[in-house]
Amino acid sequence: MSIRLKTLLTGVVASVAAAGSALAAYPERPITMIVPFAAGGPTDTVARIVGEHMSKTLGQTVVIENVTGAGGTTGITRGAQAAPDGYTIMMGHMGTHGAAPALYPNLKYDPTTDFTPIGLAAGTPIIIVTKKDFAAKDLKEFIAKMKAEGPKLNEGNAGVGSVSHTTCTLLTSQLGIKTARVTYKGTGPMINDLVGGQIDFGCDQIVSVAPQIKAGTIRALAIATPERSPALPDVPTTKEAGMPDYQVSAWNAVFGPKALPADIAAKLNDALVKALDDENTRKRLLDLGGTIADKPGRSQAALQKLVESEVARWTPVLKAAGISAAVNPAGATSGATPPPAAAPAPAAAPAQK
Ligand code: MLT
Repeated sequence: MSIRLKTLLTGVVASVAAAGSALAAYPERPITMIVPFAAGGPTDTVARIVGEHMSKTLGQTVVIENVTGAGGTTGITRGAQAAPDGYTIMMGHMGTHGAAPALYPNLKYDPTTDFTPIGLAAGTPIIIVTKKDFAAKDLKEFIAKMKAEGPKLNEGNAGVGSVSHTTCTLLTSQLGIKTARVTYKGTGPMINDLVGGQIDFGCDQIVSVAPQIKAGTIRALAIATPERSPALPDVPTTKEAGMPDYQVSAWNAVFGPKALPADIAAKLNDALVKALDDENTRKRLLDLGGTIADKPGRSQAALQKLVESEVARWTPVLKAAGISAAVNPAGATSGATPPPAAAPAPAAAPAQK
């Protein structure tokens, strides 16, 4: 063997060994988990709960970084463009990885190809909530008031394509009305304003509103799932309350950038699965009304399948509703009453185990 070839082979062996030991050592420093909405909202809540236990398993802190804007797509774009080394991951959701492609013609990522799926963190049913002294005590009165005064009513949401925006769009579209939309960096600050009475209503994920509903600082009209939530047994379903076609649920899930090494992705998935098996972590999520996927539903493959089905599910619904971030970039008041949108076929809701 020539000296040159020998040197080359030694170099290759050394770099393969170095790569192997880097993987074995991962993680050697804190991991950043981008949350694409403000602190205190549902995505932040789920990220902090699972991130805390993932930190224990990984032996390094999972640091939450809130990167807000454009209905969550700003933070997710940053996450998608991060180095695929396992030190930047993100908490995406039904909006950023399901609704956004239909709403942002210039979206800089494709949810189905630009990420490494890590795993589903929690299912988050949608609840219609109002300020506590809103002049409609139940869903039927709310519908009547919306039909009579829609454009005067302030609806809070977290920007075009966010879960709150998408699910309230479905609601107002089914009622054939428009409302005055007020956009926030997340539903954390939106719910603060609902408590303060600055806005009238919103559609939010249960994990964000359950404590306020229990405390009586806001009012829940209905939960948009077939069954009531064990966390809020007094809140009727939309079917019971008079709007059976309004069925919608969301989810939050962990992603890495595309081309994350398989061993690193598997380590992160293992840490997430262990978090969802942990009694205290489960209790915290379930007490807030979150649902937890069964074991097969927590796999990387299951998340990839969910994303693909969500993009396929939401794209026709949102296109039919005639909404686009291109014509409404700030996510502010929409200009025209959208045609009624049919409820999307039910998502593969994470089973509670
Ligand atoms: C948040 O964390 O603020 C939400 O997930 C926002 C939303 O999508 O409605």
